Amino acid sequence: GPAPRGWHYPRVVAHRGGGILAPENTLVGMDAAVFHGHVAVEFDVMLAGDDVPVLMHDDVLGRTVAGSGRVADLPSDELTMKDAGSWLAPRFSLARVPRYVDAVAWLRQQGVWMNVEIKPSPGADVATGEIVGRITQAMFAGVHDLALKPLMSSFSVNSLLAARRTAPDIPRALLLSHVPADWQAQMTAVDAIALHCNHRHLTPDLAARVKAAGYGLFCYTVNEPERARELLQWGVDAFCTDRIDLMGPGFT
Ligand code: G3P
Ligand code: MG
Repeated sequence: GPAPRGWHYPRVVAHRGGGILAPENTLVGMDAAVFHGHVAVEFDVMLAGDDVPVLMHDDVLGRTVAGSGRVADLPSDELTMKDAGSWLAPRFSLARVPRYVDAVAWLRQQGVWMNVEIKPSPGADVATGEIVGRITQAMFAGVHDLALKPLMSSFSVNSLLAARRTAPDIPRALLLSHVPADWQAQMTAVDAIALHCNHRHLTPDLAARVKAAGYGLFCYTVNEPERARELLQWGVDAFCTDRIDLMGPGFT
């Protein structure tokens, strides 16, 4: 159901770890976020060919990770050796694709809050939700404060339902580009505490209704401070940004 009373988001979340300043979904990127004072990051998780979760946005190589072919066809020990940084700048050529467990361990050492976006390869919705959920549930078994647990989000309802089964103690958010008329039924179906949507498709009226229903409200991806201020005035709780240099945790 809706977010428990007293729970609240970190207001500003570094998108894909390092935003535009460092290679996305890498530890170098997360490090850039920490360097800029961030206390929260969003990243994408996908299964490699051997079902090991790794930080990856695209289901194919070529844009951010050197090579070609599908992530689902490559075992994690091969994927994690590939160059994940040169696409942005030559100086990042040693950046690698991290395994999910390694990214979580590093972020916890830094005291950074996590929005884990479950990003299944085509057809792998259930397996990805199940496996990411199982690992997350185990890694955070000793953590009882909701504010210190990660928030798992996904555009895939089947991933969220699978994650609910294997990670009953980890909260979930439903990711939507447009907020449809039946948003509340969809939230109930996946038992989400928060709604994550594209800021371009949000209206003040919708924001007010989501907040009145008691849910957390998060927008992606907000790169202009003026727009961020407008969304916060509408009642949006949190947003992710690529401009980790312009907006930090103290942003108002
Ligand atoms: O989780 C919010 C945002 O990251 C969703 O879009 O494509 O950047 O994963 P994308
Ligand atoms: Mg994402």
